[in-house]
Amino acid sequence: MSDITILDHPLITHKLAILRDETTSAQMFKSTLETLTCVMSYHVFAHLRQNRVRIQTPLEEMETYQLASQPVIASILRAGNGMADALFAIIQDASMAHIGMQRDEVTHEPIFYYEKYPEDLASRQVILVDPMLATGGSAIEAARRLKEKGVSDILFTCLVAAPEGVSAFHAAHPDIPIITAALDRELNETCYILPGLGDAGDRIYNT
Ligand code: PRP
Ligand code: URA
Repeated sequence: MSDITILDHPLITHKLAILRDETTSAQMFKSTLETLTCVMSYHVFAHLRQNRVRIQTPLEEMETYQLASQPVIASILRAGNGMADALFAIIQDASMAHIGMQRDEVTHEPIFYYEKYPEDLASRQVILVDPMLATGGSAIEAARRLKEKGVSDILFTCLVAAPEGVSAFHAAHPDIPIITAALDRELNETCYILPGLGDAGDRIYNT
């Protein structure tokens, strides 16, 4: 599989184990998901456009790097919001976009219900976030809507991906890199990721 970064690190495995554990409370789940996203932001940041700039320290001038432009963090509702809020706290001048997708419980196809974007979306780099990449339907459709709006530079980041979702996403959007904390084994008959962590939205919001 090309263009996928799987973040293999003991800290990430440790935090993921808390998310995977069915006894973890909603409050602990949400705060751990945010911490894990902060850890992952180190890798996300490396994909953002940088400019070489000169700054003045209290002692002398020096050359360094700054973000070339502020990205848009696009959250696939609902579960994407946990990751998006954590990234937003780190990339403070970023903008947020919201894309409402709900998987149909029978067909597992994504149903689109809401969207809100900054006006200058088309010219900006977009970090698309959703903790789960299962069949890939939701992320594929969200990326398609971003491209329809004129966006040409997208990065997708998730916490747990299934091989089926990764293949489908790469087939639909070969230009979009994926960063994931884990690549799990497979989907079950109801298209949940195994071993996975269950329904991310339900676990964050205790529904
Ligand atoms: C979950 C998850 C993804 C989607 C992944 O959302 O957050 O958006 O399923 O599945 P897919 O790759 O097969 O499309 P869900 O539809 O449960 O909505 P929610 O976040 O509102 O709970
Ligand atoms: N959505 C989730 O939240 N979890 C899965 O395992 C699959 C889809």
